[in-house]
Amino acid sequence: MRSVRFISPALFCIAIPGFWHTGCAAQAAKSQTAELAVTWSLQIAPIVYHNCTTCHHPGGGGPFSLLSYRDAWRRGPQMVQVTQSRFMPPWLPAPGYGEFADTRRLSDREIELIRKWVAAGMPEGDRTQAPPPPRFDTTWQMGKPDLILTVERPYMLYASGTDVFRNFILPYPLAQSHYIRAMEILPSVPSIVHHCNLLIDRTASFRRLHPNHWKDGIPGMELEVDAGNTFDPDSHFLFWKPDTPVVVERKGMPWRLDPGNDLILNMHLKPSGKPEIISAQVGLYFTSQPATLHPMLLQLEDDRDLDIPAGDSHFVVQDELKLPIDVDVLGVYPHAHYLGKELEGWATLPNASKKWLIRIPNWDIDRQSIYEYREPVFLPRGSVVHMRYVYDNSEDNVHNPNDPPIRVRAGNRSVDEMAHLWIQVLPVNVPKNGPDPRLLLEQAWMEHRLNKNPGDFIALYNLASALAGLGRYSQAADDYRKLLTAHPDDARTLNSLGAALENGGDLQAANGAYEQAIALAPGDCDARFNLAGLDVKRSLFASAEEEFRTMLRRCPADAGAYSGLGVALIGEGNSSAAQAQFQRALQLDPNNFSALYHLGQMDIESGEPDRAIDLLQSAAQQRPDDLDTRERLAMAFAQSGRPGDALTQLKEAVRIAPGDADLHALLSQVLAGTGQFQQAIDEQNVALRLQPEDADGWNNLGVLHARMGNTAAARADFQHALELVPGHAQARANLARLPRQ
Ligand code: HEC
Repeated sequence: MRSVRFISPALFCIAIPGFWHTGCAAQAAKSQTAELAVTWSLQIAPIVYHNCTTCHHPGGGGPFSLLSYRDAWRRGPQMVQVTQSRFMPPWLPAPGYGEFADTRRLSDREIELIRKWVAAGMPEGDRTQAPPPPRFDTTWQMGKPDLILTVERPYMLYASGTDVFRNFILPYPLAQSHYIRAMEILPSVPSIVHHCNLLIDRTASFRRLHPNHWKDGIPGMELEVDAGNTFDPDSHFLFWKPDTPVVVERKGMPWRLDPGNDLILNMHLKPSGKPEIISAQVGLYFTSQPATLHPMLLQLEDDRDLDIPAGDSHFVVQDELKLPIDVDVLGVYPHAHYLGKELEGWATLPNASKKWLIRIPNWDIDRQSIYEYREPVFLPRGSVVHMRYVYDNSEDNVHNPNDPPIRVRAGNRSVDEMAHLWIQVLPVNVPKNGPDPRLLLEQAWMEHRLNKNPGDFIALYNLASALAGLGRYSQAADDYRKLLTAHPDDARTLNSLGAALENGGDLQAANGAYEQAIALAPGDCDARFNLAGLDVKRSLFASAEEEFRTMLRRCPADAGAYSGLGVALIGEGNSSAAQAQFQRALQLDPNNFSALYHLGQMDIESGEPDRAIDLLQSAAQQRPDDLDTRERLAMAFAQSGRPGDALTQLKEAVRIAPGDADLHALLSQVLAGTGQFQQAIDEQNVALRLQPEDADGWNNLGVLHARMGNTAAARADFQHALELVPGHAQARANLARLPRQ
């Protein structure tokens, strides 16, 4: 949001001491009785500064400025017209069909005030009482961004003609991943930019598709990128408009950019009457806090049924999706092109009640927007989300790009149509230790797509991947095989099949699938990486080494391959060679988990706990819930004489794996070592509840009770250990050592 300062009417009336003895309520009441002269300074400027000047300022999206009394005076009657008809401020959703943040809608009272002001001759009033006009400048609103990406070659927009939709590719230039908490766009000529979408192309697929022209920008209204959907694979709405120049993510929901990613800046440009050279900068603001909340974008759509006869003024398409889990809906993005007329989205709850998500009675593509809810809209599992769009392909539709109307189908050009409703949801009430709940959404969504269109291979591929993610490997493998009967030469599907087979335990078949994938696409490193990993798993270390080395000749900047090679070399007993490979991995990617973990482990073994601590702490940052890393870290702390820190790590480990009896027992021992006997006893009791047959555990508990002077309990513990293992020598000796009552 721009930092706009204004004084709201409510605040303002309080600031007139002694004028209204009963405060603001009196002002409202009086103004309604029309006894009070409405002035610019007192009532109108606050309304205009709050609702109009974000666009109506010099260089803004509106055609003229409304910043000064004089500006407004010249437009007064027109302001009455456009506010009474609710043409301004532009706001498509009908009130009462979803409560949106940043709702831009004047109250009836505000509209009436504008009317009265004009009827009274537009008096200025006491200008010392007028709020200061908001300031707009064309610099970064949030200060200098952490990273600025600039469009490679400026683009020439002609003076007239239809709107232009152009995609500029911005390669992410850094060697490290970053989380982005806010994004800002500075177009060189903001007044001709209608809006922008920012897409993340994880595999730089769009650039590869246009190797010779990408620097000039590629035309097109929507586009497909590989490994993701058409809008935003990272599940964020990265939608920018001139009146909201900063897009700030919600707390806990930054988005991520990795080395090798491209950003695609999709710009909607409007010719201004003179030729303009336009370029743009995208400013990104980083955060060191990784995402803790993971929203997802779901899409309802019915593009296949979009085949609108010329002249048809009421063409309806619909879609619906049943939600398999509880979600909070955070926002929606309805999207159609010029023929869209009435756009509706709602949910039917399991109790059959209807909850509106949005209703746009008069669609206008030029006013499209993301709509975020003021409060998240909770939808319990079993709810069905619906979309229903009506299109008008008659000549009565003033937006119809075809005169006379022609048959229109789905497509990417602005003369084609679209029927999309994107819904951003956040899974809630997620059971602990379960799979990523978004996989269940993905599964439901892709199954639904396949129901609509059994030939939708992208949906089948995504479904198989979701099933694999959910641990349903054999079903996933079946679906991958189904895909392969139609596309037997698809190396990526073969590779995914291999992974599903490997995870499902069929290593032999996995091996075959990887080899087939490699044979089909020798230059593609993924399958070779997996094959090498499979060799490590089967302790075929020499063969793994060879595979990793072959892969590195093709993909020499792959940190994962270096650390994989390191693991293979450890397996072959060559630790010092392994160490060198891990170090190379870290040079390429300082956050490479496997390299950090193994180097840390090696430092523990060679008695360098302090170095190990540094490495393992970085590893724990990458994977906070990795149990092994926490255990190793505790060990390194213990080794370096920091039992308090070791305890912290073990407690963390116990939090990650509360059902691990050995961990509780270990924690108990370390607690005892730092003199915290009562806590040690508590932990040991937890361990024994999980593992009641553990004679050593009972013996340890007895020792702890004895230390606390509880001889009776200690005796019972030792006797319990001896009942479980009659020959337990320590328990026998401990029992003998106990003082007689
Ligand atoms: C989100 C940006 C935006 C906001 C906010 C906005 N306007 Fe506009 N306004 C525009 C644009 C853009 C146009 C040009 C017409 C169009 O494209 O719809 C326009 C046109 C107008 C016109 C000329 C209408 C015509 O028939 O040519 C008037 C008068 C006007 N606005 C008044 C207002 C007033 C009063 C407010 C606040 C109550 C307001 N606008 C808020 C963007 C905005």
